[in-house]
Amino acid sequence: MSLIYKISFSTLLWLILTNQSNAQILSATIEQKVENILQKMTIEEKIGQMNQYNGFWDATGPAPKSGSSKIKYDNLKKGLVGSVLNVKGVSNVRKLQEIAVKETRLGIPLLFGFDVIHGQKTIFPIPLASSCSWDVEAIENSTKVAAIEASAMGINWTFAPMLDISRDARWGRVMEGAGEDPYLASLIGVAQVKGFQGKSFSSNHSILATAKHFAGYGFVEAGREYNAVNISNAQLYNVILPPFKAVVDSGIKTVMNAFNSLNGIPATGNQFLLRDLLKDKWKFKGLVVSDWGSIIEMIDHGFAKDSAEAATIAANAGCDMDMESYAFVDQLTELVKKGKVDIKIIDEAVKRILRIKFELGLFDNPFKYCDENKEKELLYHPRHLKATLELAQKSIVLLKNENNLLPLKKSQKKIALIGSLANDKNSCLGNWRIASDDNTAISVLEGLQNISSNISYAKGADVAIGKTSFVKQTIVNDNDTTGFADAIKLAKASEVVIMVLGENGFQSGEGRSRSKIDLPGVQQQLLEEIFKVNKNIVLVLMNGRPLAITWAAQNIPAIIEAWQLGSQTGNAVASVLFGEVNPSAKLTMTFPRSVGQIPIYYNHLSNGRPNAGNNVFWSHYSDESNQPLYPFGFGLSYSKFKYSNLNIDTTNNEKIKVSVTIKNTSNVDGEEIAQLYIHDKVSSISRPVKELKAFKKLLIKANESKTVEFILTNNELGYYNNNGNFIIEAGEFEVMVGTNSDDVLKKTFNKM
Ligand code: BGC
Repeated sequence: MSLIYKISFSTLLWLILTNQSNAQILSATIEQKVENILQKMTIEEKIGQMNQYNGFWDATGPAPKSGSSKIKYDNLKKGLVGSVLNVKGVSNVRKLQEIAVKETRLGIPLLFGFDVIHGQKTIFPIPLASSCSWDVEAIENSTKVAAIEASAMGINWTFAPMLDISRDARWGRVMEGAGEDPYLASLIGVAQVKGFQGKSFSSNHSILATAKHFAGYGFVEAGREYNAVNISNAQLYNVILPPFKAVVDSGIKTVMNAFNSLNGIPATGNQFLLRDLLKDKWKFKGLVVSDWGSIIEMIDHGFAKDSAEAATIAANAGCDMDMESYAFVDQLTELVKKGKVDIKIIDEAVKRILRIKFELGLFDNPFKYCDENKEKELLYHPRHLKATLELAQKSIVLLKNENNLLPLKKSQKKIALIGSLANDKNSCLGNWRIASDDNTAISVLEGLQNISSNISYAKGADVAIGKTSFVKQTIVNDNDTTGFADAIKLAKASEVVIMVLGENGFQSGEGRSRSKIDLPGVQQQLLEEIFKVNKNIVLVLMNGRPLAITWAAQNIPAIIEAWQLGSQTGNAVASVLFGEVNPSAKLTMTFPRSVGQIPIYYNHLSNGRPNAGNNVFWSHYSDESNQPLYPFGFGLSYSKFKYSNLNIDTTNNEKIKVSVTIKNTSNVDGEEIAQLYIHDKVSSISRPVKELKAFKKLLIKANESKTVEFILTNNELGYYNNNGNFIIEAGEFEVMVGTNSDDVLKKTFNKM
C-alpha cells in the first residue's frame, strides 16, 4: 500500500468520523461524544490514549531504561499515543498533530504538555519569589501571560502550578512553589489555575493546568530530592492537601503524581490518594498523569516487581496517563486480557482523557493552538515584559535597611557593583526556563545602568558550581579569589557598594538539593573582604531558596532578597534600590540561621517544654537560638507602619469581626501586607502556635491611618481531624494581627 494511499484513506476515515460527531453535535453532550468514540476503539487504541511520550527536543527527566526518551513514530501512527510533552514551536506541534489526526485510524488529537512554570518565553519571577508579593491578581495575570505565550507555541497543557508545601530549604524545588503556608499557597494556586485555564476553553489562550505533585513531595526526608515522605495524618490533611483541594474545587483539569512514597506507598500507585480521596471524595473529573517515569520507578521503590506489576498498580490506583515509563503502552493490553486490570478501569481513564480533549475543543479544531502568526506576534510581547517587571517589583523583599542606606540617591556618585551574578543574564531567569532563550534577562548591571551613569563593575568571584545546565551539574569547589583584588580596589574608591550574591540559576530546582544553604563558593569570603574596606554595602541576594546568611544579617547594613526575578530582573532591582518603587513583599518561607534548624517554619506545633527555664531541660539548641533569621511574613518597606487598636467583635459567632488600625508613620507612601493569624488554644489534636487565616494588602499614604477589617468564619476556625473530617471546636482562640508572623498584636475570644 503506498503512503499516499494510506494517508488519504486514513484522512477519509478521519473525516467520516468527524462528520459523524459533527452530525451529533447539536444534541449530544460531551459525555455522549466520548462514549461514541470509546465504542469504536480497540483495547490498544484505548491504552494508547493513556500513553505520553517525550517529544524529540529536550528531556526533563532521565531516559527510561527501555530506550531513549524519543517519541516512537510507528506507535504514534498506530494511534498508541495520547499526549506528547516537551515539543517546542508551532511547526513541530503541527507536524505531530497532523500525524495524529490524519494518519491514525480514529484521528484523535494529541495533548501537548510543557512545563510552563513561571513563563514561557517572557520569564516571570520564580514562584517562590512571586508568592512573596501576596498579590494574587498579579500572579493570576502572570500565568495568563504564560498561557498566552505557551499557547502561541502550540502548547495546550502546562504542568503547573506546583502546590507542594515545603519547610525545608535544602530541597531544590522550593523555588517552584508558594512557600510554607497552606492558606496562602491555596489562594495563589487557585489564581494560577484561573490564569492558565481562563474563563473557558473557547479561548485559544486557555490551557490545561496541572496540580502537582500529588502528594507530599515537599516533605522529602532531609530535603533530599526524590526521597521518602513520612508524615502524620494531621500534616497531610491540614498542610499538604489544602492547596490541592482548593484547585480541584476551582475546576483544575489535571493532577500529576508525586515521585515520592507517602508513608511507604508510592504516590503513583496510591489508591487512597488517587481513588478514595481525589476521584471519589473530591469528585475530581479530570485526568491524572504520572510524573516522569514514576510508574516504572515503583520497582526501585520496592513496591512492584516489574513493569507489568507497576502498570497494574498505577492503573488500578487511578493514574490515567503514563509519562515516559512506557509501562502502560507496553503492558496494559496483556494485563487486561489476563484479567489483572479491569477494562472498566481503562475505559474510565480514557473517558477522562477524551473528555478533556473535547473540552479543549481539539476535536473541532486540532490545530486550535497552531497559529504561526500568533507565535511571531506574541512571544516577548512588550505587554508581557511590562507584566513581569511589575510582578518582579512586587516580589522583592527588603530584609534590612539600617540608617536608611536605601533608597540610593540618583545623584550618588561612585557606586560599585560586585559579584558575577550582577552581570549574569541567565541565572536570574531561574531554573524552569526551558522554552526561553539564553541571555534574555536584563542583568542587574544593565538595570542599574539604565538609571545611573555612576556604576562601576567588578566581578570579584564566581558563584562556583562548575559546568551546569538544566539536566547536568558538575560540582567543583572553585576557590578562585583572583578577582578579589580588583573588587576590593573598586570598593575602596566607592561611596556605596552593591553586592549581588547568591545561587546560579541551576543551583535550585529539580535535582538540586543542597546540604549547605549558605552562599556558595567564595562569595562569603568576598563579602567579608569587601566589608573590611567599605561598610556601606547593599547586599542583593539572588537565589532560589532561603539562604542561611546569618553573618550578613548581623553585619551588612542593607539587604534585599531579589530571588530570581525573570526577564526584567535588572530593571526591577534598580527601581527598588533607587526608590522608584517602595518594596512591599513579605517572605513566604522562613529563613533559618543555620541548616541545623531545618525544618523551621512558623506554623509549628508547641511542645511540652517550650519556655526557657533556669536549666537545660526545655526545647532548644545549646549552640543556636530557636528563632529564625527572618520569620514568615517578614519584609520591610521604605515606609514605617504602626499597628494599634486590635478589636474583636463576636456579636455574630459565625462571622467574627477583627479590626486593626495601621498608621504609616513615615513620609513615604507605601503598601503594607497586614496578616491575621489564629491559635486554637485547646483542641482535640494539638494545633499550630499560629496559622495565617487572612491578609490584606493595602496602600497607605504618608502619615495616613487606615482601619482594616477581617472576618473569621468556621472555615478559618476549623481544621481536619485525623480521619480527614473538617471539624470546628468551641473554646478559646487567640487572634494575632501584624506586619509579620513574629510581630503581632494579640487578643483572645471564645468561640461558642
Ligand atoms: C518533574 C515534573 C515535570 C515533569 C515533566 C518531572 O521530572 O517532576 O514536575 O512536570 O518532569 O517535565
